[in-house]
Amino acid sequence: MGAIQCGFCTPGTVLTAYALLLKNPRPSRGEVRQALKGNLCRCTGYQQIIDAVLLAAQRMG
Ligand code: FES
Repeated sequence: MGAIQCGFCTPGTVLTAYALLLKNPRPSRGEVRQALKGNLCRCTGYQQIIDAVLLAAQRMG
């Protein structure tokens, strides 16, 4: 999904996304955005990260 560029933010983003999907296996785009709001990424512009979390939700479900 192009969610990783430099990778600096990736560990925190992955842990945050995983915690979200444990609580809410089928989040909306807005719920993903809300969950990740504390994770700063200087590279991706966030859309790719949100797309990746939504794809992970589909594949884990
Ligand atoms: S991928 Fe570089 S800070 Fe997020």
